[in-house]
Amino acid sequence: MAYNFDKIVDRRGTNCTKWDTRPQRKPPLRGEALDGLLPMWIADMDFEVAPEITQALVERAKHGVFGYTDVPDSCYEAIISWEERRHGWRVEREWIRFTPGAVAAAHLAVQALCQPGDKVIIQPPVYYPFYRTAENNGTRLLFNPLHLDGDRYMMDFEGFERCAADPRVSLLILCSPHNPVGRVWNREELTALGEICQRHGVRVFADELHCDLLMPGHRHTPFASLTEGCRGNSITVIAPSKTFNLAGLQATVAVIPDPALRQQFDNVLARNSLTRLNLFAITALEAAYTHGERWLDEALAYIKGNYDLLAKGLKERLPQARTMPMEGTYLAWLDFRAVEPDAAKLQRRMLTEAKLWLDEGYIFGPEGAGFERVALACPRSYVEDAVARMAQAFGTPQTRG
Ligand SMILES: Cc1ncc(COP(=O)(O)O)c(C=O)c1O
Repeated sequence: MAYNFDKIVDRRGTNCTKWDTRPQRKPPLRGEALDGLLPMWIADMDFEVAPEITQALVERAKHGVFGYTDVPDSCYEAIISWEERRHGWRVEREWIRFTPGAVAAAHLAVQALCQPGDKVIIQPPVYYPFYRTAENNGTRLLFNPLHLDGDRYMMDFEGFERCAADPRVSLLILCSPHNPVGRVWNREELTALGEICQRHGVRVFADELHCDLLMPGHRHTPFASLTEGCRGNSITVIAPSKTFNLAGLQATVAVIPDPALRQQFDNVLARNSLTRLNLFAITALEAAYTHGERWLDEALAYIKGNYDLLAKGLKERLPQARTMPMEGTYLAWLDFRAVEPDAAKLQRRMLTEAKLWLDEGYIFGPEGAGFERVALACPRSYVEDAVARMAQAFGTPQTRG
């Protein structure tokens, strides 16, 4: 490997959300109960970013003048080329807009495409800020929960058609690949979804932030690349934020092929005067999509190794816990219901006995209660430590390690 993913980078003392904050829990836990926590919650990486990106940022910083900056042609070309190389989707330059984050883009899309009182479909368990995206903008949520078929999450197409037929539904927020359950939706599934949306005039906000994070044997299908209909009724967001660990730079790309939808989105951007990208975001975005491919391929192989270690470790040392398949993302989804059926107790024990800070499944919707989400883009030693902590805290005396 050309890059060292085993390297421990101490992130404490950098105002790091993952390492420098404490879990919010009701009732609050006493401070000392949280000492020595290993944080594997929030979706960011503990890896140093690709040196090619750091170098581009350092070079830009050395210039010393940070005035108003436009997005250069080379940056658009880097985005277009990346999407075509990695996912086979040819994006036109005029379809591209920039936003300061994917959640911000989702808010803007709801403002652009929904009227107050409209309904927005989401498919829980799902990335929890989608809930407030609808609620913050005067729309109501309609839930079409995923269901488990063995250990694979599936969409409920009949349920989805019933939701889509509601005349107040105007938007689906699609998570593809799906955080937190790790599904990479395939062409057939997305086509079926797209057909239902078109039958009922439902627009699609396709959050494809995890599209580059694919495990072996899985391919991402951009929703908008499927059919002319899907292209015409969707807003897609992609970004280097998850892929290259750049979330703090807030560079997000919205792709809107349809001129009328684009105009609606542009109106909302103009109303909020969101017309610029931060200059370091521009630099990092272009460097990542131009020079980051090799780093990403190695990072993905390393993350797969972390996943395998976690799955094997839990199978041997805490067999009541189930590690769900991870087709994409770097987020393992663990079924702890047979270990500790009470979700509140599970959270308390994970924090105070295992001393592990994970994302509790219930925050993604009630369907997630009893599950835990673990961010695996970290040095392997953290994963080894996490397995040992879980086995120690939850294992029976025979399986304690
Ligand atoms: C599916 C999904 N969308 C959006 C985000 C957040 O993106 P941003 O920080 O750009 O708002 C995340 C972060 O984990 C995510 O998993």
